Amino acid sequence: MSKKERVLITGAAGFLGSHLCDKLIQEGYHVIGMDNLITGDLKNIDHLKQESCFEFIKHDIAQHVMLSEDLKYILHLASPASPIDYLKIPIQTLKAGSLGTHNLLGLAKDKRATILVASTSEVYGDPLIHPQPEDYFGNVNPIGPRGVYDEAKRFMEAMTMAYHTYHGLPIRIARIFNTYGPRMRLNDGRVLPTFIGQALRGEDLTIFGDGSQTRSFCYVDDLIEGIYRLLLSDYVFPVNLGNPSEITIKALAKEILKLTNAQRSLKFLPLPQDDPKQRKPDITKAKELLGWEPKITRAEGLKITYQYFLSQVY
Ligand SMILES: NC(=O)c1ccc[n+]([C@@H]2O[C@H](COP(=O)([O-])OP(=O)(O)OC[C@H]3O[C@@H](n4cnc5c(N)ncnc54)[C@H](O)[C@@H]3O)[C@@H](O)[C@H]2O)c1
Repeated sequence: MSKKERVLITGAAGFLGSHLCDKLIQEGYHVIGMDNLITGDLKNIDHLKQESCFEFIKHDIAQHVMLSEDLKYILHLASPASPIDYLKIPIQTLKAGSLGTHNLLGLAKDKRATILVASTSEVYGDPLIHPQPEDYFGNVNPIGPRGVYDEAKRFMEAMTMAYHTYHGLPIRIARIFNTYGPRMRLNDGRVLPTFIGQALRGEDLTIFGDGSQTRSFCYVDDLIEGIYRLLLSDYVFPVNLGNPSEITIKALAKEILKLTNAQRSLKFLPLPQDDPKQRKPDITKAKELLGWEPKITRAEGLKITYQYFLSQVY
């Protein structure tokens, strides 16, 4: 048994969770990864199998979570995260954010561990102010199709804050904006892998609406550094983590056609209900509190991500 401090990462076999496992191991911790594999894939953590400072537990966090070891930190990322996933498994999504979060807060209290929860820009819903600062309360339709994800995350924040105010639990709340990079799934329904997948298959790129809606994409290494800095800080209120470089979906599609050299065009489909029209993080707080801002440009990040997807397909 190593004498390293122990960290529990939920959602460890997912896109962000697996990168966080790498980061925490690199920073000298013993990592316990937990996942029920509902949207994750063991191949994302296959390279950690031989590491003595890593162990994996297959478990659904909506069920009671018990560990005998001491824990220094819990990083709670387990939740379906892409629209395709949470529309397919709405109840599990609500349970991961509610019951799952409650179970992990109980564990953190028991272990006197600091817990960081992965919240999302979706707590702002279809935002009425732009860019979105942390003190904006959001514009969410609780019973719309996206409500299962947005409200689960809003509940997660409320419950996490209640454990802080009532029990004095050390908490961190990361509001993560769209992040991309290696280990995303080509077919996970998020716009960036969808476009790359369509380009690779020689299909037209499908755009919902007229493509004038905006998003801001953060490369995964930047985000992981932001999460780690937040974890080590002593700040208990939500912090936006994302890349403020904003782009319309139509312009992104064109960038991907150029990157992949695909001789295809754009196909326009009706806009889904409650689709946010604009998204851009105000990261003033992260800059001031954590000295953090993204360093990797979209051009660099997209190139690495494209190479990753190519290696998966061929
Ligand atoms: N990637 C982004 O752009 C983004 C943006 C905002 C917030 N987030 C949040 O970050 C976290 C990770 O997202 P991701 O992009 O890596 O998604 P992902 O789907 O790749 O990873 C989520 C992981 O959680 C696991 N999981 C889901 N429900 C579980 C349960 N009940 N018990 C145990 N494991 C469970 C899945 O199997 C998967 O491995 C999520 O909480 C998501 O809401 C991600």
